[in-house]
Order: sequence, then C-alpha cells, then structure tokens
Amino acid sequence: MKKILEAISEEMKKAFAGAGYEEELGKVTLSNRPDLCEYQCNGAMAGAKKYHKAPIMIANEVAEQLKESKVFSRVEAVAPGFLNLKLSDDFLCGYLKEMEAGEKFGMEMPAEEKTIIVDYGGPNVAKPLHVGHLRSAVIGESVKRIARFAGYKVIGDIHLGDWGLQMGLIITELQERKPELPYFDESYTGDYPQEAPFTIAELEEIYPTASGKSKEDPSYKEKAMENTFKLQNGVRGHRALWDHIIRVSVADMKKNYEKLNVEFDLWNGESTVQYLLPEMVEAMKKGGYAYESDGALVVDVKEETDSKEIPPCIILKSDGAALYSTTDLATISERVTKYDPDIMIYITDKRQSMHFEQVFRCARKTKLVGEDVKLIHIGFGTVNGKDGKPFKTRDGGVPRLEKLISDIDEEMLRKIMESRHDMPEEEAKEIADIVGLAAIKYGDLSNQAAKDYSFDVDRFTSFEGDTGPYILYTIVRIKSILAKYQEQGGSLDKVQLAPAISPDEKALMMEIAKFNTMMEAAFTECAPHKVCAYIYDLANAFNRFYHETRIIAEEDETKKAGLIALLVLTKDVLETCIDLLGFSAPDRM
Ligand code: ARG
Repeated sequence: MKKILEAISEEMKKAFAGAGYEEELGKVTLSNRPDLCEYQCNGAMAGAKKYHKAPIMIANEVAEQLKESKVFSRVEAVAPGFLNLKLSDDFLCGYLKEMEAGEKFGMEMPAEEKTIIVDYGGPNVAKPLHVGHLRSAVIGESVKRIARFAGYKVIGDIHLGDWGLQMGLIITELQERKPELPYFDESYTGDYPQEAPFTIAELEEIYPTASGKSKEDPSYKEKAMENTFKLQNGVRGHRALWDHIIRVSVADMKKNYEKLNVEFDLWNGESTVQYLLPEMVEAMKKGGYAYESDGALVVDVKEETDSKEIPPCIILKSDGAALYSTTDLATISERVTKYDPDIMIYITDKRQSMHFEQVFRCARKTKLVGEDVKLIHIGFGTVNGKDGKPFKTRDGGVPRLEKLISDIDEEMLRKIMESRHDMPEEEAKEIADIVGLAAIKYGDLSNQAAKDYSFDVDRFTSFEGDTGPYILYTIVRIKSILAKYQEQGGSLDKVQLAPAISPDEKALMMEIAKFNTMMEAAFTECAPHKVCAYIYDLANAFNRFYHETRIIAEEDETKKAGLIALLVLTKDVLETCIDLLGFSAPDRM
C-alpha cells in the first residue's frame, strides 16, 4: 500500500501535469505551519524559474485543477506561491480502511524472499549477565521482530561466549574444589556422570572467584590457560565438564530471557565453529591474505580512503591461539554456508565497532562472504546511572541484570498498589511484572541505540510522559471502553470506520496513517526508537481525542460505531507496535 505522502503527492502530480507543468513538481510534504494547513506543496515555487512565470500564477492554475479533488477538502494558493492543503475526511477514512483491511496495516512486503541473521544477546557462559547484555537482548529482539514484520525470514542467534579462558578458569576452580571427580583423571576411560557436579548458584560464584584468583596468582592463571588449551584440544574429561557447564548455564539463561520476552532461534556460540578454524586459517594463508607479523598471523584490512588507523585483523596469536575475531570470521563463513543470508546484523556495545570493522573487512577480503551480503553492526551506548555517570553498584561493581529488573518491578508494584487499593496483591504483582518489562524496554528502546542513556527507575515507571507505562495505560484505557461497549450489547465486528467529525479525531486518524511510513524507516535503519516515537505521538493524539469526545455516551448509534471502530484500529496498531518492541499490555492496570 502506498505511503500516505505518496498517495497525496500522486494527486498533486496529476494536477501539475493537468495544468501543463512537469509532474515532479507535485511533491507534497507535511505542513511546517500546522496552524495554517495539514500538508503543503512548494512545487509552484520550484517551477517558477523553469516556466518563467510568477509562482502564484502556477499555484493558482494547479489549485484550479484540484477543485473537484476527492483527496483534498481545501487547496489554497497563497503568496508568493505556496499550496496549502487540507486532506478530505473521506479520503483519510478510506486510507485507514485500506490499512485496516490489508495485511500488516499496509506495509509493503519485499518482492523476493530474503534472509536476515540477527546476532544479539551475546552472553558469556557462567559469567553473570550485566546491563550491557540487557541492551543487546532488548534492541536485538526488537530489530528481529521488526524485520520479521517487514516480511523477511529472520534468524536470531545468541552467539554465546562459550569458548575462551573463562571456561578454563571454571574448570581450574572445579579441579581445586573437587579433585576427586573423574573429569580430571586423563587415564579414566569410563562414562562420566549424567548429572552436573555443581548447581547454577555454585557456577555463578565459581567464575568470579576463579577470575579473582587468576589475577593474584600467576600459577593459577597458568593452570587455567593449560585447562583452556586442553579443552580446546578435545581432552575427554574437559569436554565432558564443559558440556555440563553449558547445559546448566544455558538452562538458566533460557529462564532469564523468557522473563524478558526474548527468544532465540539458534543457541550457537563461539564453540560451534571451532571445527572450521584450521581450514579457514589455511585458506587465508594459501590465498595470500594472511601473513606473519611479530609471530602472530594477521590480515591487513586498511584501505586507502581510511581517515583513521585501522589495524590489521589478528587471526592467530603468537602462541597459535584463536581470538574473538577468529571465531567471528568462522561464524560468518558458517552462516553463509548454512543459511545463505542477505543481511547479517550484529548488536553489541559500540566499543566493539573497531572489532566489527576489522572482521567485516577481513571477511570480504578473504572472500568468506560475497559483496552482495550486507554486514551491519549496530553499536549501542552505555547505560548510565541517574547521575549520568556509568552505572555502578554501591560497592563499585557492574549492576546485575536481575537487580535492575527487580528494582523496576518493585517500584511498579508500589505504584500500582498505590492507585488500585481494590486490587488483590497477587494480581497487582502479575500486572507489575508486565508493566515493569514495558518500563525497562521502552526506557531503553526510546533512545537512539548509539546514545548513552540514564537508567532512571522513577522516570521509566511513570504513568505520564514518554514511558512504557504511559503507552500501556493508553491501551488499557481503550480496552476498557471497548469492553463497556460490548457489555452494552455492541459488537466490535459490526463497527465501521467513518470520516472524522472533529479536529481531534482527524488528528488521531492522521497519526495512524503514518504507520507504514514509520515502519519502513524503522526497518531500513534498524531503529526501534522510531516505533517508540510513533506510538508516543499516537497515544498523545488518542488521549487528546478521548478527552474531547463522548464515546460511550454518544447517542447517535452510527456515529458511536464509527468512533468505536477508530478505537479498535488505534488499539490494534498500538498493540502491534509494542509487540515489535517486545512487550505486551495487561487487560487492566
Ligand atoms: N560475548 C560478547 C561480549 O560479551 C558479545 C558477542 C557479540 N556477538 C559477536 N558475534 N561477536 O562482549
């Protein structure tokens, strides 16, 4: 379906052509003087020079062509030659009806099937999730949903950090604590126990302990490196222990992500592509791309047009060990072979942007990926405390994800209990969790990803202003009006949209009509914040309309049905949008 500005411009273009001018002049834009008109066209000004005519004359002639227009209810040519436009209520209503009847509210689908892989979440096994991983999960989930809505085949991959030194550290600490376990006896040939020799709570405590020890004790670190080496070289007991660690850790992650309404299609990780490394490295050497530099194996990735220094991409360290970039390169290769993607999108902290620049260039240069595949890195900013400084816990650590979520949920519960004395605590708690998730996600997604933002529990949980709870409150308000209408015998299936009868109603309809324009931009720019900005404007337009309009009390049944139909559409669009942001609305709050 055409975007609203395209549809309107088409009418204007016909008018220019009809008056004997070139069509292209008929481009319509939103008015920058909303007090005077809704839309405007400056084509007559642009055409004046070419046609050696006063712009006002051209404008008058074009306006004349539009006298009978069904698209505009008013076309005014004003000095020195602007066309001020007002949309016809019938046309706007028709546009919304088409949106409502079509799939995806009129968003244009791609002509051919295309596949996108979104690499997000990226937690590290056995290390506690921190706020950075929250951003990656929240933004990535939304980018994934938006792309899926836009008609693409989308695969979300968590890309676990499951292969580095941290695994060796955990194994070392387990060995210290439970040396009697069969895993460390390399002469052992029997089966290993089915059950993991630790709980998730233990595991979470083991990593920080081991990491602390390795910083103080060089021999401990030495052992950890040796254990990492053994694991990476397939020593049986180490592999078996690693399997346990992954299983316990992944089960716990799944629970956490489920609470966040985040879902991955692939649970691959750095370990998944280890089998590809030797072959890939060999090919890079053979192809003449990789060469030795200070003992390490590197690929040059700088280009003549670079304005800053781009260091070579390191493939193997001097001790022969693979790096973060090596696994990322192999992962690209694996994805190309298995899924033949058209686009790969990575969502990480923006401090990793050099890493991805190097990896992307190296992947292209070494032909792991074709020129036609788009590689995109979305780097996000830092989450700061309320004071605008990087977030720290009281003891100076990085705040744990669970803590942030529980802080929000608690405050949400307090606010709900405060305004709803009648609500049983259990229900209030359930609702607080739903609204709390919206508070966190909206608080994050409403900022452009690359920007830093402040995690502000008070602001995020407020029912007023540009917040998740405000959006949900608006949806709940609509739901309750619709429920009342049904209680009084009305049927939502029978109502039909009708032309606006008040300026506030029209303003609401005009907001709704921007949906596919906004969605296209949100998709092509990987920009969930555009969805947030849209629903905030939409919720504001709805609330203004709601305060000025009798709906349930409207006596004229036909009028009332038209209003109810508009409420249904507003609710459907809002609910679709929040689903794209990765949260949902309760039935009451
Ligand atoms: N595990 C990494 C981290 O915690 C993020 C992984 C991002 N994805 C990737 N393909 N490199 O920083």
